Amino acid sequence: MERLQKIIASYGYTSRRKAEDLIKKGKVMVNGQMVSELGTKVSEHDVISIDGVIINKDVKHEYYILNKPRSVISSITDDKGRITVVDLINTEARIYPIGRLDYDTTGLILLTNDGDFANTLMHPSMEVEKTYIAKIDKILNKEDIDKIRKNLIVEGRKVVVNRLKVKKIDKEKNTMILEITIIEGRNHIIKKIFNEVGAKVTKLSRIGYGFLNVKDLKSGEYRNLTIKEIKKLYALAKK
Ligand code: URA
Repeated sequence: MERLQKIIASYGYTSRRKAEDLIKKGKVMVNGQMVSELGTKVSEHDVISIDGVIINKDVKHEYYILNKPRSVISSITDDKGRITVVDLINTEARIYPIGRLDYDTTGLILLTNDGDFANTLMHPSMEVEKTYIAKIDKILNKEDIDKIRKNLIVEGRKVVVNRLKVKKIDKEKNTMILEITIIEGRNHIIKKIFNEVGAKVTKLSRIGYGFLNVKDLKSGEYRNLTIKEIKKLYALAKK
């Protein structure tokens, strides 16, 4: 027996969090009875339906790595009608992004319909390194750089910066390009980090996620993750 939201996510229908919302909204039935209690335990033999449609565990799991272009939103749908990361992938599966990149951020994002996989990667204990290239509207001095490398506090919590490298300085335009590697995944975290030293991020791209990169993918291109990569990502979580 497992919690209802976990079973729904493991069938690939949606993420565990979204499954919880559906349960709370009274959209989920188990054996014909509406269930709105999040703790409800069910087994694979129970008949689960969402919005009147029976879901089952024969859903094939799909895993993608996408090089997200600018002006694409990291969600399944958008009420403003903007293009989403899901729109860029040619599949009938109910995939969704694992975490998010801002509308104006480009680069590496993973998508799947495997709720267990998504939850594993998004769990706070998951210490996967994410590397970004950021262009900022200021040339940082040594103190600023040291501040970011060491004791930066963002919204009351310390940010551990694993690596920070200056890639390019343009004195005429007063801009700087840096490569920064962090583990955590707070929303807008890179922009907030540079904000703390008085700089605005004018361009941002995620180039690395653990051992993965998007060097072989043009903007808007994607590919399936290999079984080996999926296993390696799970192995990172178990460390
Ligand atoms: N940090 C940001 O500020 N934006 C992103 O899209 C990702 C990390």
